Amino acid sequence: MVTKASGEVCGECGGRTYVIERQGDRAHARVCKCSTRCTLCDGRGFTYEVREETFSAKVGPKRYEVLVPCVCQHRAKRVSHFNEVGLPGVMAHATFENYRAFNEAQDRARNLAMHFAHHYDKAGVNKGFVLSGPVGTGKTHLLTATLKHLVLEVGLEARYVEISLLYATIRRGFQEGKSGGEIIGPLSDVEVLAIDELGKGRGSPFEMETLDELIARRYNAGRTTLFATNYSLEPERRAARAPAPSGYRTTEDAKTAARDMELIRERVGERIYSRLCEMCSFVELPKETPDQRRMRQELDVRPGPPPSGMRSKH
Ligand SMILES: Nc1ncnc2c1ncn2[C@@H]1O[C@H](COP(=O)(O)OP(=O)(O)OP(=O)(O)O)[C@@H](O)[C@H]1O
Ligand SMILES: [Mg+2]
Ligand SMILES: [Zn+2]
Ligand SMILES: [Zn+2]
Repeated sequence: MVTKASGEVCGECGGRTYVIERQGDRAHARVCKCSTRCTLCDGRGFTYEVREETFSAKVGPKRYEVLVPCVCQHRAKRVSHFNEVGLPGVMAHATFENYRAFNEAQDRARNLAMHFAHHYDKAGVNKGFVLSGPVGTGKTHLLTATLKHLVLEVGLEARYVEISLLYATIRRGFQEGKSGGEIIGPLSDVEVLAIDELGKGRGSPFEMETLDELIARRYNAGRTTLFATNYSLEPERRAARAPAPSGYRTTEDAKTAARDMELIRERVGERIYSRLCEMCSFVELPKETPDQRRMRQELDVRPGPPPSGMRSKH
């Protein structure tokens, strides 16, 4: 936390020293105006650190000064790493603080993501997580809050990919004559990778092989991967699967019902699912979890002025 000389916290960044904004379709970070001129190093980018060492027993311990990069240099590097993560612009606002839990499962999801982000062990093995749930329940919000914290506060390198964009990028890479390994390489090696919309797509052999290779590589290297999906994790729900579409339902209803029940295990196959079980903790949000996009829309069409604070953006 950085405070001004007057002791006040910066109104723009809240003392975090960086600001995240939407820039086109990406979330973009910049160093806050309050911190562009570093008062620690006076803009030089380095500071002196006093060290003590004994070079000869006769002379005894000697103190000397060394040049070390100033914290402002770390800050600039982290901000530039953040701009490589690839988080969507609509998620620029998402933090743990402005995530609301409407049920116990959402509370668990937030706690799991927060615990993961705040206790990430750079030297050890870190179990990732899979968030499964209906649309608009904040899964991408939590992935974003987690990556923001890891990159800007912990100093990790991370990437976010929406799965269909990943397939499209790989397809394009192939057309440009690159090999699969060449394209998947950077995603296999990054410290933390978040894969959003797991299970989406046509499930073509190309898509399955790509996903299989990426996950197997990360699994073999012991790297941490986070996931979000609309597909169900619970095998028990198979038993509750809706009966064959009756004459009372439209084809669309039947499709939606079938999809609601579809398991991620069936979408990604046993090989990937088995690895997920070892790599991640699972949280499933129940079907009745409210869709925040719809809730917002309903508030917007409500007649008359909204009660104060109701429409405040987070
Ligand atoms: N529990 C929540 N608390 C605060 N904001 C939320 C919550 N859930 C969703 N939102 C907001 O609603 C919008 C949609 O959320 P988000 O994109 O994270 O949903 P999602 O679960 O990823 O949906 P989908 O399955 O369609 O990808 C975002 O602006 C997000 O910040
Ligand atoms: Mg999402
Ligand atoms: Zn500031
Ligand atoms: Zn500095």
